[in-house]
Amino acid sequence: MTSSLPALQSVAPDIVCLADHERRAAEVLDANAWAYFSGGAADERCLQANRSAWDDLPLWPRVLRPLAQGHTRVQLLGREYAHPLLVAPMAFQRLAHADGELASAYAAAALGAGFTLSTQASLPLELPAQAVLGTAGRGPLWFQLYLQHDRGFTRELVQRVERAGYEALVLTVDAPVSGARDRERRAGFHLPAGISAVNLQGLAPGGAPGAAAPGAAAPGDGALCAGMLRHAPTWEDLAWLQAQTRLPVLLKGILHPQDALQAARLQAAGIIVSNHGGRTLDSAPATARALPRIVQALQAGPGNAAQLPVIVDGGIRRGTDVLKAMALGASAVMVGRPIVWGLANAGAAGVAHVLRLLRDELEIAMALTGCATLAEATPALLQD
Ligand code: GLV
Repeated sequence: MTSSLPALQSVAPDIVCLADHERRAAEVLDANAWAYFSGGAADERCLQANRSAWDDLPLWPRVLRPLAQGHTRVQLLGREYAHPLLVAPMAFQRLAHADGELASAYAAAALGAGFTLSTQASLPLELPAQAVLGTAGRGPLWFQLYLQHDRGFTRELVQRVERAGYEALVLTVDAPVSGARDRERRAGFHLPAGISAVNLQGLAPGGAPGAAAPGAAAPGDGALCAGMLRHAPTWEDLAWLQAQTRLPVLLKGILHPQDALQAARLQAAGIIVSNHGGRTLDSAPATARALPRIVQALQAGPGNAAQLPVIVDGGIRRGTDVLKAMALGASAVMVGRPIVWGLANAGAAGVAHVLRLLRDELEIAMALTGCATLAEATPALLQD
């Protein structure tokens, strides 16, 4: 694996929306990889709820409004970006395509979208950063972090991330353990030879997601309580992390308004309203339901809470979903699985195609609802 940029493949002409990418990816990927990327936790109620919650929100069009000066620009962490799309962190992307995270990062930068590399990336974290840092008009480049039980290892990882040029840390807080992944277990999911969480090499076994098995259980203890959960991060660990780094720290996996307020109190740089794509707690609420509650709580919250950037992910499949998220008060939107579908179908070109479709659809939706800018997208668009 080198940092050379991937050769461009082409996207089949009959793929015209993200659902087409999904159908094709289901054919292209083997059953092992498909189970990993497509599956959610347990009965996948949360996975389905994410989708249906966006679908259930109507957009009320307004007509004859001036659109001539229209644009999709947004401000995020003090900088302006061309549009609000960010690639969510997803592990082991070389399961989908040999170019893996390098192709996704490259495509995101070319399309002006943000990119978040997973702790469990399947290639060294320096490679995507080297490939995209010089790209004009690129979106933000972030690193998703799982706090590891070995804090020395975590500190060194963070230092490496800083040296590589990442601009923020996205601390995942909703997965002290992995969800009950029935679909993965049915498929006997395993990482094939040659694919691993290479950035965690050298980490002693101990418990956080991405690391190895839980510690030894005492008699009578459940495996989780005896092992992994001994190292589960708490709010105090946020302060520890903030003290280790000059990078802004966003928290990913917030659903409860009280947790959003706590994040604001503790000077998080932003939150990501997320249920981990329905992969952790099944029956957790859809993010489209959590988002407005969180935005309202922050607006009524103390100090600068109302200024806290609120990003949302989970089930975003159409430009209309992006517009709905922005209307509910999101500052930006993360896209997960569709990126992997594009990657599986045509490498970097497939990812770029997915992002381009979403951006085009967003602009169409804005024009058809009479929103010249995303600032004009308010809850009034969604009144029932
Ligand atoms: C990793 O975060 C996963 O959801 O598989």
